[in-house]
Amino acid sequence: TYVISQPCVDLKDKACVDVCPVDCIYEGPRKMYINPDECVDCGACEPICPVEAIFYEDDLPDEWTGYLSAEREVFVTTGASGGASGAGSMAQDHPIVEGEPVKAG
Ligand code: F3S
Ligand code: F3S
Repeated sequence: TYVISQPCVDLKDKACVDVCPVDCIYEGPRKMYINPDECVDCGACEPICPVEAIFYEDDLPDEWTGYLSAEREVFVTTGASGGASGAGSMAQDHPIVEGEPVKAG
């Protein structure tokens, strides 16, 4: 699966949402999340992100490997599935995101 990592926090550009063919990129309060059970690994989202937040799971930089499990866990916790566009925002971010310092701007 592909994973959205730390640079997305407090930015949520959402260019990725527009190119995903299966509508599997869900919104949290501070970050977007790819549902690993719905992503078809098309890779369209990766080059479109202006801050290079999206990586194939095997290519995640070491400092952000926690984001792989975070992406899975947030969907176990919230049960968000079946299409992001109709889902609205999830109520809470994963703790790893909640623990990130708030970025200015
Ligand atoms: Fe975030 Fe980049 Fe998408 S900032 S919302 S992963 S385009
Ligand atoms: Fe969508 Fe990106 Fe997966 S565009 S299908 S989330 S690789």
